[in-house]
Amino acid sequence: MKKRRLFSLIMALTVTLFATAAEKQDINLIPYPQELILTGGTFRASGAPVNCDSSLGEDAVKAVKRFASSLSFDCVKPSSFATPYGLAATAAKGAVKGFAFIKDSSLKEGAYGIDITRRAVVVRASGFNGILYAIQTINQLLPKEIYKKVEAPKADWTIPCMSIKDEPRFAWRGILLDSGRHFWSIEEVKKILDAMEIYKMNRFHWHLTEDQGWRIEIKKYPRLTEVGAYRRGTMIGRDFKSCDNIRYGGYYTQDQLREVVAYAAERGITIVPEIDIPGHMLAALAAYPEIGCTGGPYEVWTRWGVSPQVICPGKEVTFEFLENVFTELTEIFPGEYIHIGGDECPKTEWEQSAECQAKIAELGLVTDEKATAEQRLQNYVTKRIQDFLATKGRKVIGWDEILEGDLAPGATVMSWRGTKGGIEAAGKGFDVIMTPNEFCYYNYAQSEDLDNEPLAQNRSPKSSITLEKAYGYDPLDGIPDGAQDRVLGVQANMWTEYIAEPEHLEYMFFPRLLAMSEVQWCRPSVKDYDRFKASALGRHIEILDFLGYNHK
Ligand code: ACM
Repeated sequence: MKKRRLFSLIMALTVTLFATAAEKQDINLIPYPQELILTGGTFRASGAPVNCDSSLGEDAVKAVKRFASSLSFDCVKPSSFATPYGLAATAAKGAVKGFAFIKDSSLKEGAYGIDITRRAVVVRASGFNGILYAIQTINQLLPKEIYKKVEAPKADWTIPCMSIKDEPRFAWRGILLDSGRHFWSIEEVKKILDAMEIYKMNRFHWHLTEDQGWRIEIKKYPRLTEVGAYRRGTMIGRDFKSCDNIRYGGYYTQDQLREVVAYAAERGITIVPEIDIPGHMLAALAAYPEIGCTGGPYEVWTRWGVSPQVICPGKEVTFEFLENVFTELTEIFPGEYIHIGGDECPKTEWEQSAECQAKIAELGLVTDEKATAEQRLQNYVTKRIQDFLATKGRKVIGWDEILEGDLAPGATVMSWRGTKGGIEAAGKGFDVIMTPNEFCYYNYAQSEDLDNEPLAQNRSPKSSITLEKAYGYDPLDGIPDGAQDRVLGVQANMWTEYIAEPEHLEYMFFPRLLAMSEVQWCRPSVKDYDRFKASALGRHIEILDFLGYNHK
């Protein structure tokens, strides 16, 4: 008898364990939380009241209200929304029903907890970001219709009971969109921001100026958009000698940009604008030739590559121009960081310019085994703009070329030419954002079968970035132990030389953006490619389809 009881107990335990394990595999969350324990049973979400502790702050209350409204449909009893006082104390007594969003100051920025029982979903966070991320997690646990107001059978929406503790691995979880080579409408930009919100990303690095087009209205310099925003044509495919002779261009007004800033902020995303200097400035030179070394002629570029024509740091008028432009930029974008580019600046014009050589002599810049005098002249440009932006309370980020020569303390380095620049910069005590081209350039094809891929940056199949390769990247690889805290985070970059249409853009983003989400959010102990792949290519493809993102 005893034996039989023991046997039954073992059987029951085994069944429970297997049932739990099987269910856990069905929890298709991306990024997967740090800790998730299924506790059995379900919570009925349809028509559940939504309460939010007002002490979480206005932004958080607004986010919860948005959640409550997406939970309400005409075909079921609408969920109520309220901000009762003392909600945390009620929740502590286990006396809440429905959704309760409460403040827990002991949690770190961005961290959150969710306890789902049959009666209630209690969400804890110290403020807006944690609340927002918890909402993304809850949304992913609900049917996909939560993302869009469509009529669907919602009377029976349930969530499995579980307990989640979660926090991001990296503070900087970004993507870059290049609007310089090809222009993306505000609607498309918002669509990308919507996806970023779902996958808990928080930095939108917006590349706004290029040799091929200037995309931001600057009131003091109207020719930047009258002239610089348009090119007379574009090279065709990979033929650098060709031009389609179709005028191409566009720009964002300051009002539009402010609207996008607010839209992003509501979704927990800070926009990091980039004005790329001192190279990649041909469109600006076409508009204002006086900031160049040669005086031109200049023309907004019709082909890809790196223009040898750059701005002239030997002239004060150049700095006057830059300070005015960056001033307007800071008035539009309130974030802490401004990206000042710094990549791929050919130095031939500076070598030949009397003004640049006079500046080099005046500053006593020398060529030695570490750097040329012209590289040090670029350090001077970086430092002047860095100091100028500091007067406006802003910090600068630059591509890893800014490290060549003598970079002043306080700049953040974005490592793109592989991981080397990031490793070196972190070792020297600079903050770093990892975006190495071999893992994070999603304008590279996503399969090695290049004949069956749309046009991509890479010509060699070996350089393609498959979903698995994108997923496998660890931003701390190679970073010395003592310097790992310097790595603020990681981002995916989308350069758009070879991408002109939204369908193509989205194809390059998805599903790799989901891989990036786990690279950014999950600790190595949580990452699991098999679990991710099943989820990304199953449940999340359904969400992407439902929201109209092209991924095939
Ligand atoms: C870059 O890809 N030139 C930063």
